[in-house]
Amino acid sequence: MEAKWLLCFTMAALMAVSNGQESVKPLVKIVKGKKLCDKGWECKGWSQFCCNQTISDYFRTYQFENLFAKRNTPVAHAVGFWDYHSFITAAAQYQPHGFGTTGGKLQSMKEVAAFLGHVGSKTSCGYGVATGGPLAWGLCYNKEMSPSKLYCDDYYKYTYPCTPGVSYHGRGALPIYWNYNYGETGDALKVDLLNHPEYIENNATLAFQAALWRWMTPVKKHQPSAHDVFVGSWKPTKNDTLAKRVPGFGATMNVLYGDQVCGRGDVDTMNNIISHYLSYLDLMGVGREEAGPHEVLTCEEQKPFTVSPSSASSSSSS
Ligand SMILES: *[C@@H]1O[C@H](CO)[C@@H](O)[C@H](O)[C@H]1NC(C)=O
Ligand SMILES: *[C@@H]1O[C@H](CO)[C@@H](O)[C@H](O)[C@H]1NC(C)=O
Ligand SMILES: *[C@@H]1O[C@H](CO)[C@@H](O)[C@H](O)[C@H]1NC(C)=O
Repeated sequence: MEAKWLLCFTMAALMAVSNGQESVKPLVKIVKGKKLCDKGWECKGWSQFCCNQTISDYFRTYQFENLFAKRNTPVAHAVGFWDYHSFITAAAQYQPHGFGTTGGKLQSMKEVAAFLGHVGSKTSCGYGVATGGPLAWGLCYNKEMSPSKLYCDDYYKYTYPCTPGVSYHGRGALPIYWNYNYGETGDALKVDLLNHPEYIENNATLAFQAALWRWMTPVKKHQPSAHDVFVGSWKPTKNDTLAKRVPGFGATMNVLYGDQVCGRGDVDTMNNIISHYLSYLDLMGVGREEAGPHEVLTCEEQKPFTVSPSSASSSSSS
């Protein structure tokens, strides 16, 4: 009798997980006055963030389909590659650290929209005349189509030596370029990307994982991550304030792209990323009015966190 009930109970729990529509009840414990939770595979490891709603509670398959509506049309360049499941699987690793689980549901949804906004704009093949509008074409690519070089920087020949015959052109959800970036990402994810950068274009979960690692990790020491500046866990110093760097979406572009996008006024490269974010806020039902004021949303007047050597030399030569 008891065994039978237990079986029914177990099966109901399994079904709730597998159809993804019911939220999993977290296991809870209190350690030193702090409430910690574990919420199955999606938010594992006794973290306070797992006590909150997790991404699959408020961001469902149909919403992913709405955001990336055109990615599987015949003219797209990565048909059948990207899907909801790989995004959630990759995100599971970062939710215990606060990705999509910091603050309340609204703040969490905004972070998912912000991250995916960056992803959408970097992987879009939507041009002015594309059907559905230019913002419906995110996740159209999973790699750079006609690389003109191997992106091998010899400066890193001792730390991240290029493998002969291997090309380090752009791949992924927040595309990775150059041997040293593949090397560093591979170290972090414990995958040999220096020898096998193609793993990124063969595995959508890994591609999302690499992008989420970039979002959650400072690009340089003593700098905040894109996650930190977005959720407000980063507190600007006096220098930051003088440089007009304030927490918010604008600063995520500053962290990820520095002077390539920020501190240049009202430029297309910046506006394209912002447009994707705003469109995704609408499609997720949050609404673009939640994006906040202009100076938080853009980085047109922010001094960059980092000046890239390539653009420094190109601007001096132009
Ligand atoms: C969990 O969500 C609540 C609001 O729903 C928020 O106040 C709290 O800060 C969140 N916890 C964490 C760890 O972000
Ligand atoms: C894809 O990458 C994920 C995450 O790194 C890994 O767990 C999975 O085994 C990989 N899949 C294949 C087919 O290699
Ligand atoms: C602030 O900026 C000045 C001038 O660029 C620099 O010398 C100083 O080290 C900075 N202080 C901090 C705390 O970053």
